[in-house]
Amino acid sequence: MGLDLRGQAAVIAGGAGGLGSATVRHLAAHGAGVVVLDPDESAAHTLVNEIGEHAAVVAGDALDDNALGRAIESAQALGAFTIAVSATGVVIPSRRLVSRSGAILDLDIFQQNFDLHVLGPANLARYSAAAFATNTPTSDGQRGVVVLTASISAFDGQVSMVPYAAAKGAVVSMVLPMARDLAPLGVRVCAIAPGGFVTPRLSDPAVQDLLAEDAVFPRRLGRPDEFADLVGSIVANPYLNGEVIRLDGATRLSPQMGPPPSNDSR
Ligand SMILES: NC(=O)c1ccc[n+]([C@@H]2O[C@H](COP(=O)([O-])OP(=O)(O)OC[C@H]3O[C@@H](n4cnc5c(N)ncnc54)[C@H](O)[C@@H]3O)[C@@H](O)[C@H]2O)c1
Repeated sequence: MGLDLRGQAAVIAGGAGGLGSATVRHLAAHGAGVVVLDPDESAAHTLVNEIGEHAAVVAGDALDDNALGRAIESAQALGAFTIAVSATGVVIPSRRLVSRSGAILDLDIFQQNFDLHVLGPANLARYSAAAFATNTPTSDGQRGVVVLTASISAFDGQVSMVPYAAAKGAVVSMVLPMARDLAPLGVRVCAIAPGGFVTPRLSDPAVQDLLAEDAVFPRRLGRPDEFADLVGSIVANPYLNGEVIRLDGATRLSPQMGPPPSNDSR
């Protein structure tokens, strides 16, 4: 039987982005009410207008308790709020920990990565789980599911990606203890660790080609609808919990993306 989410509602943080918007479309196509929590108000409204009924925008940040509270209230107005997905991202430029010329990486790059990739998702998870706790449980005691977005960089981080890899590693490490913490509430927690996906943050064709070279099969980048489909599978399968799933065509990232330029001073 296909995924039937009628009567349920989801908050998708980063829902206006590449992976997020595919998730919003997928969940909505299977009947869920969807709330797009994203600071990119214009992209969020364009998406919600496309979906029509049973969709809402909360322009804001997953780190903002107030915006999160409004997103959860909006979801509860659209149905039983049972699904929280974190797909937030911005590109935070980084470089080697110490460059060949001796420049030391700014600690603020770590802070920005941890705010975006760890504290935001943790905030979404804690507020969502508290709201899920008030749901009537299913016959096997389930009240909701949290899906986080890690990255294969958590496992094979490349040159110049220490802060990002550390933050995504923290996402991976949060999943099992979160699942254990939230089990008494009937809340499951999983994460997807994507390889390279074609989204606005990876719009440079040269970068896409380099990343696709590391894929084994299919030898291409992932499509956002393939990510969204996995979110749907996690939501649908009540026995999936505490797990991080790589979605990467068997990609194992090489140490660095492409050959270093001859004057590499990163
Ligand atoms: N695209 C890839 O190849 C890839 C690979 C591995 C992991 N990821 C991870 O997937 C996630 C989504 O990536 P994407 O490619 O869809 O990025 P994207 O840039 O297309 O979309 C990210 C969205 O998040 C929103 N956002 C930023 N900060 C936010 C916040 N604090 N709260 C709510 N929304 C916020 C942005 O406005 C944007 O709409 C990121 O965490 C990224 O690290 C992406």
